[in-house]
Amino acid sequence: MRLLNVRLIVSLVVGVTLVSLFTSYYQVLVLNRSLRKDLQHRAEVLAESLARTVERDVQRDEQKTLDHTVQRFANREHLIGLAVYNPQNHPIAITNALDSLMSNPPGVVLQALKHNQGTSAFLRIGHASLYIYALPLHAPDDDQVIGSLAIVHDAGYIHAESLSIWRETFLSALAHIVLIVLITLLIVRWSIAGPIARTAHWIKALRTGRAVSARIKVPDMELFRPLAREVATLAETLNTARTAAALEARLRQTSESIWTADRLAVHVRDRLEDGRLFVVSNREPYSHTRRGRSIEVKQPPSGLVTALQPVLYACDGTWVAHGSGDADLETVDRHNRLPVPPDDPHYTLRRVWLTKDEESGYYYGFSNEGLWPLCHIAHTRPIFRASDWKYYCEVNQKFANALLEEMEDVARPLVLVQDYHFALLPRMIKAIRPDARVAIFWHIPWPNPEAFRICPWQSELVDGLLGADLIGFHIQAHCTNFLQTVDRIVESRINWEHSSVQRLDHQTSVQPFPISVEFTDEKPDLSGSSAYEERAALLKALGVQAACMGIGVDRLDYTKGILERFLAIERFLEKYPRYQGFFTFVQIGAPSRTHIKRYHDLQAEVEAEAERINWRFQSDQWKPIVLLNQQHSHEEIEPYYRAADLCLVTSLHDGMNLVAKEFVATRNDELGVLILSCFTGAARELQDALQVNPYDVDQVAEAIRAALEMPAEEKQLRMQRMRKLIRENNVYRWAATLIGELCDVRLELAGSNGERFRAGASVG
Ligand code: G6P
Repeated sequence: MRLLNVRLIVSLVVGVTLVSLFTSYYQVLVLNRSLRKDLQHRAEVLAESLARTVERDVQRDEQKTLDHTVQRFANREHLIGLAVYNPQNHPIAITNALDSLMSNPPGVVLQALKHNQGTSAFLRIGHASLYIYALPLHAPDDDQVIGSLAIVHDAGYIHAESLSIWRETFLSALAHIVLIVLITLLIVRWSIAGPIARTAHWIKALRTGRAVSARIKVPDMELFRPLAREVATLAETLNTARTAAALEARLRQTSESIWTADRLAVHVRDRLEDGRLFVVSNREPYSHTRRGRSIEVKQPPSGLVTALQPVLYACDGTWVAHGSGDADLETVDRHNRLPVPPDDPHYTLRRVWLTKDEESGYYYGFSNEGLWPLCHIAHTRPIFRASDWKYYCEVNQKFANALLEEMEDVARPLVLVQDYHFALLPRMIKAIRPDARVAIFWHIPWPNPEAFRICPWQSELVDGLLGADLIGFHIQAHCTNFLQTVDRIVESRINWEHSSVQRLDHQTSVQPFPISVEFTDEKPDLSGSSAYEERAALLKALGVQAACMGIGVDRLDYTKGILERFLAIERFLEKYPRYQGFFTFVQIGAPSRTHIKRYHDLQAEVEAEAERINWRFQSDQWKPIVLLNQQHSHEEIEPYYRAADLCLVTSLHDGMNLVAKEFVATRNDELGVLILSCFTGAARELQDALQVNPYDVDQVAEAIRAALEMPAEEKQLRMQRMRKLIRENNVYRWAATLIGELCDVRLELAGSNGERFRAGASVG
């Protein structure tokens, strides 16, 4: 820092001095020029005005008058005096003060006589600095030269003026230098040295494991932004590594089989060896959107991303997805790829572009107006349009082509296809790359064969799926429904014992893999009071006062049973009026698929229903339902999970429902009650939730009362058991099991003379 200060001071001194010197030099030059001009002018005017009188006196030889005139002009402002010479250059009249200096005429007088015209010069005679203007004198009648007149001024004041400018310059430069240096040193101290010292202190505290605030405080200046970003990332990485190491140590000690992101990474690397992993999903893990002039990166709040990211990290894989952000195209290379995560690239995102028609037909149409209501028994009628189906096939082919392009030159690729958007993809891939191991995970329920058979393209969908080596569902019931559907629709041999299908020499294994969430919060927080305080603060921010709070978090989707939930809350307040004014339910509802009429209408219905119930019960500072219908990040939702007395998950039908698991994973105070629809996949595992039929309004109302009145010990016992289950069956275990199964797949490859044989070993 001292060297920086010295450098700054020297630079400032040199800079300010040079600027001052240059401006003063220019000022002196201009002043000199104008003073000289002024003096010349004055001398000329005086000489011209005196010439006639002096010529007359010289002509008439009137010595007395001449002497008088000469002495009269002595010692006027800067004028020293006059001298009059005869043609032989002898002084005939001279001001006393000039007597000694000018008894011999200076060269300028001789010049004036020689050229017969006024001549001037600045001279230094002895110590005096003089300005002399000489004028030849002529006889008034015949114009003959009769002598010369010299007007002598003291020019020393011009020099004195210049000197005074230089003196002022010196003083003002000195003042400037002192002031600028002082201000600069203060700025350096406040804005650079201070933040750097604080950052160093913060890093040291972090390194030595002392408690530090999560965010480093540096001024919001352009200069520090990159540094702050990097330091924050470094700290985060360090913290994650520390937590992972601590967890690993704990696991080693307790020999618990808990999966972590690191353990998953090691496992995947071991199993894949030199193979590479490809993930295909409709939603992309990172999207770029325009915000004013800058581009923002967003990560969708999706369990899928949490689960698959560590796997891709571990094996430098590729994720193929629809590029749906409005700035996505600007951020890819010419192969439509970009390394992600943008801050710390570990794998490749390959974006696939869809036209508006393709998006309408494939995504909104066939996937979400056809397959979604077909697979969810929620009594919304599926819509099947031939034009949507055409787009569904074309887009599946488009994704298959992109994936095949990415897999070119990759030996032993592993492909994980995600969800109902890509039922045809497995067969398309296997037709071209039989050496690829392909799995598809169906994140939504699979209905019974009776329900599924209304789809006009049921055989094509099932046949496309059976191209995969492995099909995953959340629960056994969905696997069974699928196998029964296969049994009804296509020619195949089903091995019920091993849950597999043999069709056209190809075997597909059908297995349940219950998806889960991350479970990071290990230590129980038993402080007790925090949930209460957080609850009061959250409700206050929403403009409500209530002693108890419930929470619901959903995409605004008709399968989530949000209207049924509101009816149950109404029934609860009707049945137990003592809770009016005491219990508020916060519903976070993220708008979803709003271009579809059913979803658009649902949004209006949910708002109207909340409004109706609120109108019925609300008082001055309280209302029963607060509806927050916008996208919330995981960080924004977490405080509600932590503060709520209960969480309501009332899906009419749901593959798994990760909200239920997230609520449990967040409650490290081991309190809070989960009310869970028995029609969710999660209900199979979370037996300690209060399980309800969401269609039974009275039952749900009763569950709300039971949750609010449940003794703390019972709440704790239930929560502890559910937390243990999720801790052990977290999302990393899901990914590890799914990939493990896929690596174990034995491929049947055609021999050179057409016979089929099984590839020797599984991967890993
Ligand atoms: C369900 C599906 C996912 C989908 C998510 C959000 O959970 O199984 O595949 O990504 O809903 O829906 P969206 O249509 O917005 O991707």
